[in-house]
Amino acid sequence: MNSWEQLGLEILDGRKIEELTLRGKTFKFNEKQSEFISNFTDRYCLNSGGYGSGKSLALNVKLVLLCKCFPKNRILLGRKTLSDIDRAILPDLFDLMPPSWYEHRVKDGIINFSNGSQIILFGLDAMQSGSMADIKKAQQKVKSLNLGAYIIDQLEEVEYEVFESLNSRLRKADVPFRQGNMTCNPANFWAYQYFKLNQRRNNNGDWVNKDTSDTSLIESSMLDNKDNLPDDYLKDQLAMDSDYVRRFVYGEWNTDILVKGTVFPKERIQEFVPRPALAVEEECEIFEQPLPDEVYKMGVDPSEGIVDPASITVASGSGRKVAKYNGYTTIPSLADKIKFLYYKYKRPMIVPEVNKSSILEHIKDLKIYHRRQFDFKDRRETEKLGFSMSWASKQALITNFQNLLRQNKIKIYDSKTIEEMKVFVWSDEASRQGAGASRGFHDDDIISTMLAFWEFNPKRVEEVMAIKSMPSRKKSFQYK
Ligand SMILES: Nc1ncnc2c1ncn2[C@@H]1O[C@H](COP(=O)(O)OP(=O)(O)O)[C@@H](O)[C@H]1O
Ligand SMILES: [Mg+2]
Repeated sequence: MNSWEQLGLEILDGRKIEELTLRGKTFKFNEKQSEFISNFTDRYCLNSGGYGSGKSLALNVKLVLLCKCFPKNRILLGRKTLSDIDRAILPDLFDLMPPSWYEHRVKDGIINFSNGSQIILFGLDAMQSGSMADIKKAQQKVKSLNLGAYIIDQLEEVEYEVFESLNSRLRKADVPFRQGNMTCNPANFWAYQYFKLNQRRNNNGDWVNKDTSDTSLIESSMLDNKDNLPDDYLKDQLAMDSDYVRRFVYGEWNTDILVKGTVFPKERIQEFVPRPALAVEEECEIFEQPLPDEVYKMGVDPSEGIVDPASITVASGSGRKVAKYNGYTTIPSLADKIKFLYYKYKRPMIVPEVNKSSILEHIKDLKIYHRRQFDFKDRRETEKLGFSMSWASKQALITNFQNLLRQNKIKIYDSKTIEEMKVFVWSDEASRQGAGASRGFHDDDIISTMLAFWEFNPKRVEEVMAIKSMPSRKKSFQYK
């Protein structure tokens, strides 16, 4: 028995891991991490918490232990897509393991350890979206597995049904215990019922209280990990608005973020009076022609092709949705519409959603929004092109738009956008990332509208009227 196997037995016996040296670096764990890593007892362990609270690191360390302490273990490492695993998980995981321990078979999506343990890399999205054939294939693949454990970072991206089917694969008999290990952000989704309220879904699909003791929930805050975060980052985060700080910094997971129903207040929506477009140019609807003193911004939801239409919104600095495009189209032809509106409305900044689409390639010569992203590893902020939609960024996008609505800064004339606002609801379905269109409806026009108003602070509608009625001043700058 080697020292790892010995360590495994000690943890099974109740030892708590407070620090560990991996690949020459000694990690000291905080209380929450230590508890999560050392739990070899509960069947389902979830660490929910704020950004940068050390969830992913603890999850990776636990994965290493499960592989090294128990030879021939087989562990599924799941994330929404395989490319998320490659990009967001593997670099950090490989930082913890000397290359001599394992062989990464990239093509097969497998990491084999010399002690016979194996990590299977799995894009869970294949089980929850895509064509029926893809879903069937992925489900079939999972059905053939005998797992000792699974590891899922960002559980809020995963549907309950996928979680259930993974649980039924925890049946590898030659390891001492079987366990699901997960992390999440404090999102409103099924894990709140499962882990926090300790409810289970009955045959009717309703959540009912259950007297179960097979789960462990750890809730952590960014402050739990403050020793490992740059001071100025922490300071910036704590200075954000209080809702943000409670949810994304302290990691509070409570019912006031579990509001059901529509996202936008009905009273506000009723104030919008639909009016037909002034003109249709190149299939784009024009509600207001470009004005000399106005600045513009463009939002693009490029959903490709058959299921959802693509949508473009041009918003003005006076808070009006002045032009739009909506239609089922190919990416190159969507790029043509973007370019048409771009040159018409004086080269506005474009905020495209960039998750799946290849739209960036086609508009790379235009002015594109850069998002800022904090890179914990390099301890610096990096800039990337476009808006990346996740549960957290969608919350921020919605909050921004809600605030503008509340301040009476937005005017929308397009009836389709107004209709979509009425059926845009909070949701606990992973695919909708916290909110989306009610079943059978679309949300592309409201998404592109919110993108157009992202980091764009229009003047109040009355202020604009007042300014317009003042004698015109000399133009002091030229908007490029
Ligand atoms: N115990 C620890 N020792 C050293 N660095 C840590 C420790 N825990 C977390 N970190 C570092 O802190 C940063 C944020 O942690 P991470 O696990 O990515 O947080 P989360 O997944 O909760 O957003 C990362 O750079 C990570 O390597
Ligand atoms: Mg993380």
